Amino acid sequence: MSAIDSTGALNCISFHSTCWSPAGRRAVPSADGLTGLAHGVKQRRQAARRDDTRTARRPDRIVTTAATPRTILAAADDAAIAVAAAHLAAGDLVAFPTETVYGLGGDATNGRAVAGIYAAKGRPSFNPLIVHLPSAEAAARFAVFDPRAARLAAAFWPGALTLVLPKRNDAGLSDLVTAGLGSVALRVPDHEVARALLQASGRPLAAPSANRSGHVSPTTAAHVAADLDGRIAMILDGGPTAVGLESTILDLTGPVARLLRHGGIDRAALEAVLGAPLDDTPVTDDVAPVAPGLLSSHYAPAARVRLDAAAPRPSEAFLGFGPLPAGVTGPAETLSATFDLTEAAANLFAALRRLDAAGAATIAVAPIPAHGLGEAINDRLRRAAAPREGGG
Ligand code: TXA
Ligand code: MG
Repeated sequence: MSAIDSTGALNCISFHSTCWSPAGRRAVPSADGLTGLAHGVKQRRQAARRDDTRTARRPDRIVTTAATPRTILAAADDAAIAVAAAHLAAGDLVAFPTETVYGLGGDATNGRAVAGIYAAKGRPSFNPLIVHLPSAEAAARFAVFDPRAARLAAAFWPGALTLVLPKRNDAGLSDLVTAGLGSVALRVPDHEVARALLQASGRPLAAPSANRSGHVSPTTAAHVAADLDGRIAMILDGGPTAVGLESTILDLTGPVARLLRHGGIDRAALEAVLGAPLDDTPVTDDVAPVAPGLLSSHYAPAARVRLDAAAPRPSEAFLGFGPLPAGVTGPAETLSATFDLTEAAANLFAALRRLDAAGAATIAVAPIPAHGLGEAINDRLRRAAAPREGGG
């Protein structure tokens, strides 16, 4: 485990010694119903608090002050997943990798945990969250699957598809997760670590992207740490995410399937399984509460973003598609040297972060074809280029 990000923000990287979580400041729920691991968590928290006092006096150790909350960053091996599951059971928050982006997970049946997600992200609380499950069978406990939903789940789960379905009344989900809507967004992620965590915790996990509200979604554990260090209990590091874009969101609460968000599964693949065209009337901010999270300024880097740029102007950074144009001297990289949209999707958020960190006031972005995953990439780029407001 090693994990100091470039800002040096993450100063606590092991769950064996002095590092412990911000949750240590909260009361641990009564012993009833907690696993042995959760008790281990409690003991380690107490030990960590004792250790904090000791290490804080030692100048040779990299520690935050005892008053500063800690976040554990751990390689996602079995032991770390067990500790993370215990944290989740205790109502703490854990960031974990999925195949799309890193998620900020909390127990979806625990209102305090869900409220903690909004607080950690600084997210407007009217945004409903996606609930993650280990299998379609587990998902069926929380929503009503009509034949279309069952077909899509069979075809694409586990995978980068989120289905918005009528919520079951006895679902036991915190009302905060669905922001009071009668529907719920469900997804079965296709990532070994995510599924192991879901199995080990035994809880449905509400998990928005693990970034501060309005920031670019994280595709590495270091991105998560840069945004959320000190605000959550733990980050499981499973390496860079494969898809790099969030899941496609499909609303099946009405008679016509409605595409709420372009994402990792493209429209043609969905239409082939549905046997019918999707309604993709653009979702705008004022259609809330249908998809209140789809604020137009989502995914914003600090720099301004100029779209459809054949080449950068002087002092602009450049994000290309295909080989970079000759003569570019400023910060520049390409999403894919070979015009591969899948590779471009996987690189998008990390590339925006890198170019943002290079300090240019504007990032010029090459035109991206609007087919296949290009629809989702263009959607994210348009949001990155839009005037700024809150988002998730
Ligand atoms: O790939 C992903 O989907 C990632 C990973 C972590 O799974 N998660 C993610 O979650 O992107 P989040 O919270 O950033 O995006 C959830 C979106 C929001 O735009 C929200 O408004 C919409 O899903 N949503 C959630 N529940 C909904 C519902 N019942 N009806 C309509 N939209 C809903
Ligand atoms: Mg998000």
